[in-house]
Amino acid sequence: MAKVKEAKNIWLDGKLIPWNDAKIHVLSHSLHYANAVFEGVRAYQTKNGIAIFRLEEHTKRLLNSAKACLIDVPYTLDELIKAQIELIKSNDFKETVYLRPLIFLGYGSMGVSHLGSPTQVALIAWEWGAYMGEEALENGIKVKISSWAKPAPNAMMSKAKASANYFNSQMANHEAITCGYDEALLLDANGFVAEGSGECFFIVRDGAIITPPNDTSLESITQNTVIEIAKNLGYEVKRQKITRDEVYVSDEAFFTGTAAEVTPISNVDGRIIGSGKIGEITKKLQKAYFAAVRGEDEKYLKYLTYCN
Ligand SMILES: Cc1ncc(COP(=O)(O)O)c(C=O)c1O
Repeated sequence: MAKVKEAKNIWLDGKLIPWNDAKIHVLSHSLHYANAVFEGVRAYQTKNGIAIFRLEEHTKRLLNSAKACLIDVPYTLDELIKAQIELIKSNDFKETVYLRPLIFLGYGSMGVSHLGSPTQVALIAWEWGAYMGEEALENGIKVKISSWAKPAPNAMMSKAKASANYFNSQMANHEAITCGYDEALLLDANGFVAEGSGECFFIVRDGAIITPPNDTSLESITQNTVIEIAKNLGYEVKRQKITRDEVYVSDEAFFTGTAAEVTPISNVDGRIIGSGKIGEITKKLQKAYFAAVRGEDEKYLKYLTYCN
């Protein structure tokens, strides 16, 4: 429910324009039939100026999402990377930034078929701190296993960061919040843990870190970073299916995502996880993750694109 903090400029269809001028037609095809794709990227303030974390991977995933969803994109990977850097520079941000590239179908045709609707591309960035608040990062959140299942891979495409997938996420998140929780955890059609409404999921059991394969979840960039960090810290990491009861008896649990960063989970469906506070291993991973994104650990400088 974070209110957007207005910035100076938005990049729309090849041009930087003032924030309030970024308007679209009500007959934009994506608004009606939900075929659009997007990314969530973060840029952090570092001692060498603002830097975007894993920009190339996010932009590649954006173009792959468009390909899977049959959207022709009139820009190359290189052009989109340069445009995102240009956008960040032009806004002169002082805090942590969230960057939202969006590829959607504009005004041109109506009816279910998207053929004949022009592709539009928007790059939007604004200052946005902790996704669920600082308190969540420190003390953990309460999670509800959702009554909504993740769609099976023959129903929707979870590898695409498609706007249409977020109807399922939105219903699950809303259910969790209105029931007094902070976030939802969705199971797949077979009852195994899939992911959160906008995050990947990890547990710790007997010192090993476990996260499910991306069968019905997004191929997450933060999950990949956290696995790399965990291995570098000497932990065993297992990619295996997780059942609901394994979650309840885990020693630690946490969510990862570009927006959620590393958010500890203190309670699932009323079961206290571990000590009910951030777990030891989660704390180490969270600390190392923030060091990586803020350019404080040489090992991960390879993931930073400085914008100055
Ligand atoms: C459904 C879903 N799963 C997982 C993630 C985490 O992906 P990433 O770490 O690439 O941001 C996100 C956030 O983008 C998401 O929306």
